[in-house]
Amino acid sequence: MRSKKMTRRDWMIGSASAMAASALPLSSLTAGRPQQPAAPGAPPAQAAPPAAAPTPQDANRAQRMEWWHAAKFGMFIHFGLYSVVGRHEWDMEDEAVPIEEYMANAPLFKPKPGSLREWARIARDTGMRYMVMTSKHHEGFCNFDTKLTDYCAPKQGPGRDLVQEYLEGARAEGLHAGLYYSLMDWHHPDGALCATNEDSRMRFVDYTHGLIREILSNYGKIDVLWYDVAWPLDATGWESDKMNDMVFKLQPDIIVNNRNKLDGDFSTPEQVIRAETGGRAWESCMTLNDSWGYQRADDNWKSAKTVIRNLISCVRDGGNYLLNIGPRSDGSVPEDSVHILGQVGQWMKRNGDTIIQSDPCQPRRSNYASFTRKGNTLYMHVHFWPGDYVAISGLQNEVKSARMYATGQSVNFDQDKYRVRLSGLPAEAPDYPVTTIAIECDSEPKQDTDFVRINKPRDGV
Ligand code: GLC
Repeated sequence: MRSKKMTRRDWMIGSASAMAASALPLSSLTAGRPQQPAAPGAPPAQAAPPAAAPTPQDANRAQRMEWWHAAKFGMFIHFGLYSVVGRHEWDMEDEAVPIEEYMANAPLFKPKPGSLREWARIARDTGMRYMVMTSKHHEGFCNFDTKLTDYCAPKQGPGRDLVQEYLEGARAEGLHAGLYYSLMDWHHPDGALCATNEDSRMRFVDYTHGLIREILSNYGKIDVLWYDVAWPLDATGWESDKMNDMVFKLQPDIIVNNRNKLDGDFSTPEQVIRAETGGRAWESCMTLNDSWGYQRADDNWKSAKTVIRNLISCVRDGGNYLLNIGPRSDGSVPEDSVHILGQVGQWMKRNGDTIIQSDPCQPRRSNYASFTRKGNTLYMHVHFWPGDYVAISGLQNEVKSARMYATGQSVNFDQDKYRVRLSGLPAEAPDYPVTTIAIECDSEPKQDTDFVRINKPRDGV
């Protein structure tokens, strides 16, 4: 008979349905379960950020985060024993794999020499500026050398320090490099017991703080610490204040996310694009298919067009986009991922400045385009090319000139109070998968379609 006691899974399933019913912010309920992607272009959330006590890191946050805001586009990498299994990074729990059976993957984990170096090349060629790799995921296996457990890459199949290798690759390509760390641990004997037994909690917090100390002490400068899933403790239980104090003592310039139950430096909407309010930094993390870790049968790949639209939506609203790859256990990146990122990279070579150098952008309404902005220049990114002409409703600024961004070829336009119409365009989209038109305005571009609805002359009855 099934126990009446609420399991963690029941709690999460309950949370998910409550979430659907009440439309509460996802972040408050998901406990780290992978979320399904949302359509790009959702408007920024209206909820005010939670009030938090000031931290010593508030003072220099802007300076610490400068590179990150400028970088905008990063690569997330999920790599671990689940890369051997090839059935998603939650396999160990979601198929209730017995511990010995799961651990049998450790000797089989054999990334080819040089394969991690290749990830950094792919990231740079895609137009990404930073990387974040799992140092330890929920399965508990450490990709780095540690004195605290033998369940780590140098002492198991890989026979070497994968964190070291990853960091060398990122740095060689001139990319900033961060480490993901899962607080939740399905392997450690205290990983669940810590919730109900104080000795166990103290041991597990020691272990956790100890591992974090190692990854931030042994590899030089680390740019981001990306905590994940705080189950089953809260900030008090994890001693998260003390954790962050240690982190900033070891790495004074680092930035940290909000998943150790403190606000940290930035929010982490997952599989959705949801802007923060009040100037708080945010980064939308997303999979290329529906799995973070390698899942050989997952063929639900996003198109390059979708990826580019998502990237545009993030930077338009002042956020970053952290896009994931899930390499196989030999370190190779699935061909579909390579292909999609290759297309994105080609597009970024022609259009990247309209993304990387952009400022937050207010205009957003169109049925076939999305927008970014630099100063007074509005970039209209047309993803469904209608041919002949495109139009923008309710642009509040005077347009000075327009040109095809990639070729510089000038575009004819006419403008009245309600509409800008760019005409004489070719029947077929000039660029793939998205065509960018640069529209020079007399001031910062603003759009007001309500103005159009209210004021545009109507017919009689
Ligand atoms: C969730 C998942 C995890 C993934 C992470 C990335 O927390 O549990 O598998 O690593 O999201 O944001």
